[in-house]
Amino acid sequence: MNASKRPAPEAARRIHVFLGKGGVGKTTCSAATALHRADAGARSLVLSTDPTPSLSHLFELEGRHCEREVLPNLYFTEFGLADLRDMWDEQFGHEVYAVFSSFVDVDYRSFVEFMTSVLPGLNEEFMVDFIRRLAVEARYEHVVWDTAPLGQTLALLGMPRLLGEHLKLAPRIYSHLKTSGERRESVMDVIRKWQDLSAECMGFLQREVSFSLVTIPEALSVLQVDSVLEELARHGLGIDRVVVNNVVRVTDSPFLAEKAAKQRPHLDRLRGRFGESRVVEVPLFPSEVRGLDRLREIGRVLAG
Ligand SMILES: Nc1ncnc2c1ncn2[C@@H]1O[C@H](COP(=O)(O)OP(=O)(O)O)[C@@H](O)[C@H]1O
Ligand SMILES: [Mg+2]
Repeated sequence: MNASKRPAPEAARRIHVFLGKGGVGKTTCSAATALHRADAGARSLVLSTDPTPSLSHLFELEGRHCEREVLPNLYFTEFGLADLRDMWDEQFGHEVYAVFSSFVDVDYRSFVEFMTSVLPGLNEEFMVDFIRRLAVEARYEHVVWDTAPLGQTLALLGMPRLLGEHLKLAPRIYSHLKTSGERRESVMDVIRKWQDLSAECMGFLQREVSFSLVTIPEALSVLQVDSVLEELARHGLGIDRVVVNNVVRVTDSPFLAEKAAKQRPHLDRLRGRFGESRVVEVPLFPSEVRGLDRLREIGRVLAG
């Protein structure tokens, strides 16, 4: 498999991310995984940064939630873009502004607005750091991150390295600035901190995050698996397993039997490629996944 070395088995890792294109079942798998862990007595957080609020819909909640206990041991946090902007501002805003304002004349508010809305991926990078800190604090035994659809998730995986690459140029720029020696030193310090943060975020993704790629047994989705793996490999990342959702199991109806037969070669191909133990099949249910019983059923399947 096209995966980098993973130091810990999936079961030992505490941060879970489900990747995949829109509609394949990422939110369902995220909720099911968090619920399963919570039921087993582990304090679990399910964190949503998807602008479509499907998790709150699933748990039938209204409004924004921050670490709300929705069921015993199961906590739910949902961040919108504005929340992320505020948190980024609080965490990094002034430091980064100190660097920028040393060569660009810009007021603080416009600067934060620019940084957090115009620069693609900055919010996501911030999220990686946010989750990394959650892991360090160890307030939760499991954190499941329900991300936005694939493109954005992949962009975020590239962010720390991208930022690192850009920052390599920065010391050269700053060494030409006509600022006082003391000022320049502090700018260099901030840049060094960014670089360290980038490296930490990437290391965190590589070592501690379990990536499950969600797909459905259809030609287009299965084809997409390759491009996702290539993209991940470029960042030194690999997936732990493939979750094949919407698998048809019953064959007593001619319609379903035909559908099951169509799915079979795709499933076989995935199994051949990733190995029996790294492919998890989630059955297709007759209706959309709602309610705790169904989620528990899926949670059990995903936990093996
Ligand atoms: N195994 C399944 N059987 C039936 N419906 C499913 C299954 N998995 C997901 N769904 C439904 O498919 C829709 C999309 O799932 P969702 O988890 O929101 O996808 P994503 O987060 O990847 O966009 C939802 O309505 C969900 O209830
Ligand atoms: Mg979703």
